[in-house]
Amino acid sequence: MHHGHREKRHRDRREFAVERRVEFKVHPRGKYDYRQADLRRPMFIGDFSLDDNRQFCHDKRNLNYIPVDFESTKEVEYDLNAGMDKVVRKDYEVLKKDKLSQLLNWLLVNKHKFHTKDNAGRPLQSLSTDFICFRGLLRDILCLPYENKERIIICATKFRGTIYMWSYETPEKKAAREAQTEEHLKMCSWGYKFEQYMTEGSDISEGVNENSEYSCVLRSRLEKHSLVYSAEVDGVNPEKYESPPVDLRAFVELKTNKILSEERDVRSLQRFKLMKWWSQSYLVGIPTVVCGFRDSNGVVQSLKIFRVEEMPSLGQAHWKSNIMVNFLDKFLTFVKQQVIVDDPTVVYKFERETVGGDVSCKYLGRDSNWSILPDWYYKEMFSA
Ligand code: A3P
Ligand code: MG
Repeated sequence: MHHGHREKRHRDRREFAVERRVEFKVHPRGKYDYRQADLRRPMFIGDFSLDDNRQFCHDKRNLNYIPVDFESTKEVEYDLNAGMDKVVRKDYEVLKKDKLSQLLNWLLVNKHKFHTKDNAGRPLQSLSTDFICFRGLLRDILCLPYENKERIIICATKFRGTIYMWSYETPEKKAAREAQTEEHLKMCSWGYKFEQYMTEGSDISEGVNENSEYSCVLRSRLEKHSLVYSAEVDGVNPEKYESPPVDLRAFVELKTNKILSEERDVRSLQRFKLMKWWSQSYLVGIPTVVCGFRDSNGVVQSLKIFRVEEMPSLGQAHWKSNIMVNFLDKFLTFVKQQVIVDDPTVVYKFERETVGGDVSCKYLGRDSNWSILPDWYYKEMFSA
């Protein structure tokens, strides 16, 4: 297309967006209650680690081995408070500043994985993928029809035919995070400590550095949408693992939950936790969640295996996976319809502004306050 044409369309788009704010309806969610859209088996296409300082490492140094040597449940005694005085908490300011950087780093060093037969030997022209994002963003969209109190702010940029998306922290979430008491923080750290207990060869007396990660990069397709996304994963069952993996079948997700002593604990697990666990694991094709049930002092008393494919029925229709997946499919269609201008510095903002409200799309243009692609990425990715 001629440059002039693009400029004109660009301008038209902006005028259109100012006149009319386009909305995507979340409710009534019953309209998504039909045969579940098809998510193809997510395929492993690579991985990376982040070290204790959240520096990108193109290797498996932080991949954990998590033996699962029991059938369904196991009695244990894991004191999650051990080494708590030596814990290094996750730095959310760094995480927010990095945005998509870690995944973009991975893309830069893995260009060769995106070459098609047609352009072999020539510089890469496009990623041949509709969407690039983190798994967490997809999980949040999946849950949106059931999370009326959740607001979202997603910024999207189209570059060489691919839409990049990143979730900004909402002011409410920032406030909640900053208001966390030492008690809250300790309970968050219990989750990481549990991972350490479950990991082969770890030293429990050591403090956990919550900044380090291991992430997989996956390719999948949801109906008409091709997707590449990365996901932090807890580890792999060494008995089932073959390297390099084809998919995440041998991987394990770890969770903690309070011991189920009352009816409402059971209900809360079914209604809220299972929905989140399911959406997180389903998106990456992890079949198994191991939950550590802890008492109020933070001592895990038992382990229990949950099969991801059984979770929707365990959820007792408090949430329906078909509504969630169909919602995600239609949401991505909406994003594709809105994000037209192909320019790495142009941003569109998708936002749910009110409780239980719909998602609006605003064209922001070249607004550096909301941009999501750094120049080191877009100047380098498709250069000769
Ligand atoms: P639980 O899963 O036992 O709650 P994940 O399960 O996604 O691998 O995350 C591991 C742990 O990180 C969680 O343990 C929880 O303690 C902590 N965690 C996850 N998301 C968090 C968030 N947004 N804020 C604070 N802590 C979080
Ligand atoms: Mg976990």
